[in-house]
Amino acid sequence: SDTEKGTYNHFMLKEIDEQPFVIRNIIQKYQNENGDIKLEPEIRSAIREADRLYIIAAGTSYHAGLVAKELMEKEAKIPTEVHIASEFLYNEPLLSKKPLFIFISQSGETADCRGVLVNVKKHGFPSLTITNVPGSTLSREADFTLHTYAGPEIAVASTKAYTAQMAVLSILAMDSARAKGIDARFNAMQELGLIANAMEALCDQKDKMEQIARDYMYDTRNCFFIGRALDYHVVLEGALKLKEISYIQAEGFAGGELKHGTIALIEEGTPVVAVVTQPHVNGNIRGNVQEVIARGANACIISTEATEEKGDHIVLPEVHECLTPLVSIIPLQLIAYYAALHRDCDVDKPRNLAKSVTVE
Ligand code: G6P
Repeated sequence: SDTEKGTYNHFMLKEIDEQPFVIRNIIQKYQNENGDIKLEPEIRSAIREADRLYIIAAGTSYHAGLVAKELMEKEAKIPTEVHIASEFLYNEPLLSKKPLFIFISQSGETADCRGVLVNVKKHGFPSLTITNVPGSTLSREADFTLHTYAGPEIAVASTKAYTAQMAVLSILAMDSARAKGIDARFNAMQELGLIANAMEALCDQKDKMEQIARDYMYDTRNCFFIGRALDYHVVLEGALKLKEISYIQAEGFAGGELKHGTIALIEEGTPVVAVVTQPHVNGNIRGNVQEVIARGANACIISTEATEEKGDHIVLPEVHECLTPLVSIIPLQLIAYYAALHRDCDVDKPRNLAKSVTVE
């Protein structure tokens, strides 16, 4: 069952493995008999009427929001901002005339988000919560809810809830594009089906991920993750996973920013993980990988195409370039898991962290 570990030693690994099933479940829940997207008409009109979307979230859900912004702007042409809930709460930006607020929250209980929702309601602005817990506070108090159907997530480090959030948001983005008469670049349901298969293929490569975690992270003090464009959002999440559960100081950086400071930290043997899935910046990020290797870094490259660079490679199954985060995150989750395991950390219950943070 969802709340038992079964044959697994940790909920985190079980939940990583569940991701293909979660994606297939989401496809089913959001599809009608004709294979079209099924969505409450009220949610459709709320999006249609908005002149700008404000995504509010914390932690891993914020990282899903960063990816959602790209989909909303590039596919549905809706201006979208993403804000860290606790920042928005005390430093409200200039708002558009007809904003729609979208709260992304696994638990639906995060106090920082709740604070923003209370203010949003005072202003009389409409709100949509995307959550894994439909009866939760954020769900009850917002005007609309979209369920992520990931099943209970027990491990403190979020995995399946993150990919489920991105899947639901990609459906929402493609539905909004269609409602605006925009020619879709891809069919969300079809692509999600391919993504589920790709996730499965990656979950079958645990030995490889374990080897990388052992070789790169066993006794390191720090670890850097680099990416550009969509991959930049994914490396932020990859770094968060690693730091949360292995206590390795891990940071995600935009490839182009390396030279503006971070590269000073690269020493002989510093692990650098690069995610390379975006054709228009692949050349640039590969250049960044060369730069860190030249300074002694141990580079691990996670890419959609096989490469000739030194270091370890993980080749991702091909999926649409706008949805690669759902796939490229799997190796990062698994590497974080095995790094924590080999460093004898409490994988499911890392120190100082709580699954749901209901105080500010
Ligand atoms: C806590 C958890 C994180 C999570 C964040 C937001 O800090 O430890 O894993 O990403 O809250 O949680 P939410 O339930 O709002 O997605």
